[in-house]
Amino acid sequence: MSNAAALAAPSARREFDFTHADHQAISRIVYDALGILLPEGKAQLVYGRVAPRVRACGLGSVAAYLKQIADDDDERDRMLDALTTNHTSFFREAHHFEDFSERMWPKLAQRLTSGGRVRLWSAACSSGEEPYTWLMAALGADKSAAQRLLKGDLRLLATDVSPSVLETARAGRYSADTLRTVPAKLRSTWIDSRLTVDPLLRDAISFRPLNLLGAWPMKGKFDAICCRNVMIYFDEPTKAKLQSRLADHLETGGMLYIGHSERLSPDVAKRFDCVGRTAYLKVSA
Ligand SMILES: C[S@@+](CC[C@H](N)C(=O)[O-])C[C@H]1O[C@@H](n2cnc3c(N)ncnc32)[C@H](O)[C@@H]1O
Repeated sequence: MSNAAALAAPSARREFDFTHADHQAISRIVYDALGILLPEGKAQLVYGRVAPRVRACGLGSVAAYLKQIADDDDERDRMLDALTTNHTSFFREAHHFEDFSERMWPKLAQRLTSGGRVRLWSAACSSGEEPYTWLMAALGADKSAAQRLLKGDLRLLATDVSPSVLETARAGRYSADTLRTVPAKLRSTWIDSRLTVDPLLRDAISFRPLNLLGAWPMKGKFDAICCRNVMIYFDEPTKAKLQSRLADHLETGGMLYIGHSERLSPDVAKRFDCVGRTAYLKVSA
């Protein structure tokens, strides 16, 4: 391998050849499909995630794998899935759920009781901890009261581009370690002895595959949207476009919650009041 082709970690320590050109080709595919940036500093991460796929396909190099995915859309999708970062947890950035429960939930619960509809969206929900947290935090530990509200027209749409995390989310079964950040009262109300989320909560959530860069089939607007810790992987134009679409899909008076290190682009920020830590109230269409 030429010097120009060698990447940071010595290829001798790698099972498969992985050149600078291979990294660039993979980054381009991922950026075009998902908007995710994988600069050279992420070469080790890229190799670590792609190598198991090269092995599973019985190939000898990343270059051979790139040739294979050129004609094999299913394998290309498996590579894209492997290259998403799905880190999440129950009650992550819990201040958002506190804000929602105080600011929005009383009037939304009232609306449900009087026959109205409530629509929530967890965009980039990963393995489901975020949407389950959201409902647990809003409904609290009074299961009978929650049951009455869940009979109303409440839907939480939870979407992600990764099929593997959506499978975990739908199953709603987690390890004891994953569940340790759920407050004890909520845990005893909503998680059973098999460490599975109560079907009452699961049935209120629609888990669907959705690429945030692609077409969105949803017609109606949402009362609140969580789109947290996904925009960090995108460049500025992609973030601005996504934020503008999220704003379009939110009711005026609705809330948008974004991740702790994310910011609204100046044009989109004009449509919102910042009312808490990365918590935005939509004030104009
Ligand atoms: C770090 S997780 C964040 C999960 C959760 N929102 C949270 O804050 O804990 C980022 C998620 O974004 C998803 N993702 C990345 N690019 C995406 C895209 N273009 N469309 C939809 N989801 C995407 C990944 O599959 C991953 O599950």
